[in-house]
Amino acid sequence: MSLNVVILAAGKGTRMKSVLPKVMQPLAGQPLLRHVVKTAQRLRAASTLVVYGHGGDDVRRAFAADELLWAEQAEQKGTGHAVQMALPQLPVEGLTLILYGDVPLTQVGTLQQLIDAVGDGNCMGLITLEMDNPTGYGRIVRNAHGEVIRIVEQKDATADELALREINTGIFCVPNTWLHRWLPQLQNNNAQGEYYLTDIIAMAAADGVAIATVQPAFSWEVDGINDKLQLAALERVHQRVQAEALMRAGVTVIDPARLDIRGHVTHGMDVHIEPNVIFEGRVQLGSNVRIGANCQLKDCSIGDNVIIKPNSLIDEATVGAGAEIGPFARLRPGTVLGENVHVGNFVETKKAVIGEGSKANHLAYLGDANIGSGVNIGAGTITCNYDGVNKHQTSIGDDAFIGTNNSLVAPVTIGKGATTGAGSTISKNVPDDMLAVARAKQVTIDGWSRPEKK
Ligand code: UD1
Ligand code: CA
Repeated sequence: MSLNVVILAAGKGTRMKSVLPKVMQPLAGQPLLRHVVKTAQRLRAASTLVVYGHGGDDVRRAFAADELLWAEQAEQKGTGHAVQMALPQLPVEGLTLILYGDVPLTQVGTLQQLIDAVGDGNCMGLITLEMDNPTGYGRIVRNAHGEVIRIVEQKDATADELALREINTGIFCVPNTWLHRWLPQLQNNNAQGEYYLTDIIAMAAADGVAIATVQPAFSWEVDGINDKLQLAALERVHQRVQAEALMRAGVTVIDPARLDIRGHVTHGMDVHIEPNVIFEGRVQLGSNVRIGANCQLKDCSIGDNVIIKPNSLIDEATVGAGAEIGPFARLRPGTVLGENVHVGNFVETKKAVIGEGSKANHLAYLGDANIGSGVNIGAGTITCNYDGVNKHQTSIGDDAFIGTNNSLVAPVTIGKGATTGAGSTISKNVPDDMLAVARAKQVTIDGWSRPEKK
């Protein structure tokens, strides 16, 4: 049967104390809602509909590129009312899976089990969980045969019902025909004056529809987020799960509690990661890569046998095999390093293509530069790429030697095998194999004496 996903996301999220709507709060660098939308995509849902309310326009804008359906719930009158808002856009056939915009980590496998339990639509299903402390949750009420007959909310429950420890996670899978029949019948004559989605369980039981229950493999799969404490707690859970996956795949992670992955990491064999490393976007690591403490790598590709020393930042860059980066190096977008390149401490690169074996070991800025192989860039060298209006290119040929503390005033070309003297300001091209020295001549004064204090 075709699958429709409805994501309830109309909650204000008052306890976040933020201008950002709750479902836009980031977990692993992505809005909470993004995680749920991705889950729906992985389930190959025919349609995904978001019920929105507070801050809805911002949410819709953030997801404009996604193929989503939207239904507004202007006033929050309960979970049943929220799904009612989606009803006109739900087909009469098929199944609907109800998820929550603030429950980001439900695993696809668990949801697939629920969907499979409902199968061809002769029953409905929900995810339940046994809790030591079920306070606040709706309780699952079963009959003598162990069949689910209804759900009672905390505020409506009797003392006996409050003692039940099986709770409703809120995640339902319901054949659409039943949803279309039951939802319009909901009443709000309960302790909260709300239209409870949970009331459809009693309707199902009354209609003789079997109710399947599925338990998540891990309780964090159904954890919802209401405040920054729960957000931080679930972030750590998610990071731990990701670090464990890396370690199972053979990566050495010195401290899994001090690794953050905000995106996707691929890797070869024998990768070694020191504490406090952050990966963002798509990061590709080759084999035998070592990443030192406090490095941040974003959307980059790192070749085999690369050593990244502590406190280095790499953003939209490609690093060739055997390169050595850092400590304290900053590779900015458009940096492409060949094999065995060395980029050392306090060196910044941007749109710099650097050939095999070239070295810039100390204190340099290389921007809009095309640098050949075997080049040595002296300490303190700067490409003066910006004239205040436009950016210009610096080209340096193979085996050139740039002396210490050079200013290379772009556009400028330095030939193959050329050498520039220390302290030069190079503003004219230097032909292959020649030496250019561009600095004031030293004056040495004999018999000069220091002034004396009066
Ligand atoms: C609901 C369930 C309860 C379950 C609990 C799990 C009902 C009546 N109760 O409790 O059995 O144990 O979830 O967390 O369903 N929402 C809307 N519009 C509304 C109301 C809620 O979009 O009018 C959204 C919220 O943004 C939130 C979710 O639905 O994402 C759940 O709402 P919340 O108020 O947290 O759940 P409860 O009603 O307390
Ligand atoms: Ca509520």
